[in-house]
Amino acid sequence: MDYKKAYDILEKYDQLHILKHYESLTAEMQKNLLAQIDEIDFSVLDALKDEKNEYKDIQPVAALQMDKIEENKQLYEAKGITAIKNGELALVLLAGGQGTRLGYDGPKGTLNVGKTRDLFIFQLLIEHTLDVVKQTDTWIPFYIMTSDKNHDETKSFFKAHNYFGYHADYIHFFRQEMVPSVDFEGKIYLENPGQICLSPNGNGGWFSSLCKAGHLKNILNANIKYINVFSVDNVLQRIADPVFLGAVLAEGYESGGKVVKKANPDERVGVLCTNNGKPYIVEYYELTDKMRNQRDENGDYAYNYGVILNYIFPVRLLVKIMNEHMPLHIVKKAIPYMNENGEYIKPTEPNGYKFETLALDMIAYMGTCLPFEIERDREFAPIKNATGVDSIETARALLVQNGYTL
Ligand code: UTP
Repeated sequence: MDYKKAYDILEKYDQLHILKHYESLTAEMQKNLLAQIDEIDFSVLDALKDEKNEYKDIQPVAALQMDKIEENKQLYEAKGITAIKNGELALVLLAGGQGTRLGYDGPKGTLNVGKTRDLFIFQLLIEHTLDVVKQTDTWIPFYIMTSDKNHDETKSFFKAHNYFGYHADYIHFFRQEMVPSVDFEGKIYLENPGQICLSPNGNGGWFSSLCKAGHLKNILNANIKYINVFSVDNVLQRIADPVFLGAVLAEGYESGGKVVKKANPDERVGVLCTNNGKPYIVEYYELTDKMRNQRDENGDYAYNYGVILNYIFPVRLLVKIMNEHMPLHIVKKAIPYMNENGEYIKPTEPNGYKFETLALDMIAYMGTCLPFEIERDREFAPIKNATGVDSIETARALLVQNGYTL
């Protein structure tokens, strides 16, 4: 891309400040900046102007509850094990986030929660998966999504730890795409005079990034039918859970999401429900008072089960929806940037917006989605914050409660 073209694009999107330092850059830096501008999809900025509010008809759906799961456990588990043994399941670990709330320097998965020994988040996730590998006597392909910000570090961390005992041939890394971050006025931040501030584009693009990285061919050739996708921060979650997979199959659902009973009606989690008859996750701020207090026929809260970012999707439908335009979410975040005086600032409070697509929006494209209840204390220990709720300390306490030595 030449200067003129870059100028025209930036002018169109009212972002000419990006070229403010252009004249002072070396030829090499100028070239890099123009290349960066060439690669960026500036149309994400239009989301800031988008005020369309589509009509929503939100209805609660009943979860498959723990007592029912327990009753049918043998059947579900056997079905899940057979599918895994047949090589029908692959895993995708979403590890491209920046973990700004935690404020830890480095990929979140490299965080050590151990006290008397090393116990890294990545290690715990691999160990949970190894339980199923042993149970099924099958190596399950394990894909790890990273971003430009943490790819090399994540990859070398796994290598240095010998993949925590996983078969290296079954671990694959791929990068997600990046988008520019803006201030509250919609102006793109610069990281330094010759570089635009980019951040990972959310966890909703994981399948298209997986395909762009060239993995689809292998997935189809290996006849992988389902993908279990999950977040990096829940250190207790069951991964490749045969009971979950078997329940989705046995109950005839296209997809499934693990859910946990809300601690109270006001808990700030998304709830699996339907919108215009299609699976949908209603955000806590979309729930009206009436919905929040609505009861089902058993007298329980109707919107009672929050999602924990652990889903099963069928490859068949993922391929079908690959080119759909997922909704773009505008998220307030603390974005490190270069200020007017050329100083690099690392804010602790949100100072602008990032644009993200979310994995939870994918379920809207599935015909049906099974809400599968899990036990909070045994399977939900997310590390989101440095202190307080969902922090390293709360996760450590839950690990100890579940028999782990820290
Ligand atoms: P979060 O919503 O917790 O976002 O991600 P985050 O970026 O990690 O953390 P904060 O909000 O800045 O504190 C949920 C899961 O989705 C992954 C994360 O790594 C985590 O596993 N994720 C998030 C991505 O893979 N890519 C992204 O762009 C964002």
